[in-house]
Amino acid sequence: MAGFELASGGPLLSVRDLRVRFVTERGAVNAVNDVSFDLHEGETLAIVGESGSGKSVTAKTLMNLLPRTARVSGEVRFDGQDVRALASCGAKHFFGVQMTMVFQDPMTSLNPVKKVGEQIAEGLRYHLGRSRGEALSEAENLLADVGVPEPGRRVSQYPHELSGGLRQRVVIAMALSCRPRLLIADEPTTAVDVTVQRRLLDLLDGLRRDRGMAMILITHDLGVARGRADEVAVMYAGRIVETADAGTLFGDMRHPYTEALMRSIPRIDDPVHHRLDPIPGRPPELIDPPDACAFAPRCRYARHDCHDGVPELSGSVGMHRFACLHPTGAERGQAALAANRAAHSSSRDGDGGKDGSGNSGKPDRGEKPDGGSGKPDDGGSG
Ligand SMILES: Nc1ncnc2c1ncn2[C@@H]1O[C@H](COP(=O)(O)OP(=O)(O)OP(=O)(O)O)[C@@H](O)[C@H]1O
Ligand code: SF4
Ligand SMILES: [Mg+2]
Repeated sequence: MAGFELASGGPLLSVRDLRVRFVTERGAVNAVNDVSFDLHEGETLAIVGESGSGKSVTAKTLMNLLPRTARVSGEVRFDGQDVRALASCGAKHFFGVQMTMVFQDPMTSLNPVKKVGEQIAEGLRYHLGRSRGEALSEAENLLADVGVPEPGRRVSQYPHELSGGLRQRVVIAMALSCRPRLLIADEPTTAVDVTVQRRLLDLLDGLRRDRGMAMILITHDLGVARGRADEVAVMYAGRIVETADAGTLFGDMRHPYTEALMRSIPRIDDPVHHRLDPIPGRPPELIDPPDACAFAPRCRYARHDCHDGVPELSGSVGMHRFACLHPTGAERGQAALAANRAAHSSSRDGDGGKDGSGNSGKPDRGEKPDGGSGKPDDGGSG
């Protein structure tokens, strides 16, 4: 590794107050807002959220892969080093060596007219100075490590000769070739068949453990995070709305959006079959977002005060934090849910929806936020 030295101690990756805006003809897209998290050596952070929530933009910011239209502020430190400063002074042996990324579609990372062995060998030659022969031999070993059968034959094949699952394994081999300390896997299995997904996720998890590597696993599926992540950050409309260690998040989720995700998404590795409830409505526009909780129009717990500013993500980084005024599982949340149900059933003359909220997110200003029983009910947890 050339060009810089790494410090030691503290988290491997520390992100503080990250903001990303894209300048467009329609206005500024507020893609990432005030995102802060830590990731420790050898741990997995899952970033979970619906399409457009800012997961990939966050990852691309870390990897210095944003287009010129992006305006970035905030701090990113990798083992104490300022990553944004490294990016601007051209640390070519940092990105792709210490920190690498696997994209959703393997074909965006593979050159269709180059043999896969040569493509894996390229990084080893460029970053680590291996000879061509050494690099090709390492490429073959890497293909074996990622479970590609007959690696000696596969090194001489072109990407189109491989199945989608094998192509993604090749991309994983490329990302691992220089033994990164952090791998960012952005929806690494969405381009492959559902039966291949779990095997690839388990492979990634196993490789991470074997190599003591840290991983950011980006997914829209909370079920993928379960059992594979140490920490989970749930993103909505460019913000982290809830984050905790995985045990706390799955056992004691507090944000209504996390709960809604849990109820809405089929989980490929959950043996228990849950009834699926799609989240009503759509995520908000990120140009000119309202000064309110962005989830309010879709939230069955929403009360009038949810429109009085963006709720803060309270607590310290590394602890259970959530940005909600009426958290699920809390007395205040149950009261809001009950009041919304009562208001909905009286306004609809008993013809309520599944949850009775109406999901307008705008209860009458005169309604009391604590008008319910305060007791948990059947809709209270995912
Ligand atoms: N280059 C760009 N210019 C303008 N807006 C952009 C650009 N790239 C991303 N965005 C916007 O930023 C927001 C966040 O996008 P991002 O790709 O991070 O979403 P995501 O959470 O990864 O979604 P998905 O699950 O669909 O991959 C979206 O509204 C997207 O349209
Ligand atoms: S209860 Fe209010 S603050 Fe909490 S998620 Fe719903 S709308 Fe947002
Ligand atoms: Mg994405």
